[in-house]
Amino acid sequence: MEGLLLMLQLYFVASHRNVNVPQPSAPPPLRHKHSPQAAIKPLIDEFLDANSPLRHLFFPDIKSAIHPANGSHYYRPGHIWLDTQGNPIQAHGGGVLYDETSHTYYWYGEYRQVGVIGVGCYSSKDLWTWQNQGIVLSAQQINNETHKSNMLERPKVIYNDKTGKYVMWMHVDDVHYRKAAVGIAISDRPTGPFQYLGSRRPHGFDSRDMTIFKDDNGVAYIIYSSKMNTELHIGPLTEDYLDVKPNMRRILVGQRREAPAVFKYQGTYYMITSACTGWAPNEAKVDAAESIMGPWETIGDPCIGGKEMFRLTTFLSQSTFVLPLLGLPGSYIFMADRWNPAELNDSRYVWLPLAIGGPSLESNSSGSQSPWPRVSIHWHKKWRLPLS
Ligand code: DGJ
Repeated sequence: MEGLLLMLQLYFVASHRNVNVPQPSAPPPLRHKHSPQAAIKPLIDEFLDANSPLRHLFFPDIKSAIHPANGSHYYRPGHIWLDTQGNPIQAHGGGVLYDETSHTYYWYGEYRQVGVIGVGCYSSKDLWTWQNQGIVLSAQQINNETHKSNMLERPKVIYNDKTGKYVMWMHVDDVHYRKAAVGIAISDRPTGPFQYLGSRRPHGFDSRDMTIFKDDNGVAYIIYSSKMNTELHIGPLTEDYLDVKPNMRRILVGQRREAPAVFKYQGTYYMITSACTGWAPNEAKVDAAESIMGPWETIGDPCIGGKEMFRLTTFLSQSTFVLPLLGLPGSYIFMADRWNPAELNDSRYVWLPLAIGGPSLESNSSGSQSPWPRVSIHWHKKWRLPLS
């Protein structure tokens, strides 16, 4: 029923903007109880259609951009987000580092002109106003490694307290995603330039979507999709963060998950992932573990609020990072990408509040109530941080 309502609502909005939309001839099949993917197919088809008359609903135009000059501090998921110079922020598939030395946040991500031209870096004191610090690692450096069509995705940076270096890990690949490796780069400063140290297949396995996570005790881990995205692998990095240690665990085996984003609360580890559907959005899932090396247990879909179809598509986005809010234990920003496959450089950011608490609504595999607290990502058309 909700599927039909959404289609009607989309039709209503579009027709009141003088857009010519064919009226649905028959209600969509109500099969979503058994197959969420079937229920959301009409929405995904519209989303992926670059000529859809509903496109402005998924990718609102520049008139509604988030502009630091207006000082409102409102996040508007899916809207164009401008930096302090008035240019759209280019930090896709990114992550945020809080630098304790400068008390500044640094947002790193794919700087795209459709293809990735490097890793973009933006700095902020308030997580809303972002100043462009330039391209801190150029794709050219990676291109030199093999051939021109190399790809660079999902860069993440952590600080090594022992060596005093900022260390970046990223997914590097060829245009067919057959190289399936990680790249590593290093810098003395958060704003780079980063020196590319080369690529490798961690533990000898293919590696595509990935992230790194620095634990409270300074031990860092890599988590990557492997074995053709059928499972994730997790393992500690060496003390200098420049390589992996030999020990590795296979997790979420056979589940076909990607886009991992890891965080920790009161000694428990959480990981949000997506299914593997290319640039098309799908349903998010959270797993939890008492030890980061596993076992990991599924909690369920964290998305709440808004229409069911938006929840079933992670609000038309895909996880990339979960940022802890300093001074607000249990509160996080869920960072995700609303990919625009027709124009990847015009992909949008979906930042939403994430909270932990209360019993999970899901049952675990044995049918009993899950012992883990609920992880909730709340939909908001616009929202702001409590202290901003
Ligand atoms: C989904 C991944 O999460 C993205 O980073 C990107 O690799 C696309 N697939 C490519 O289709």
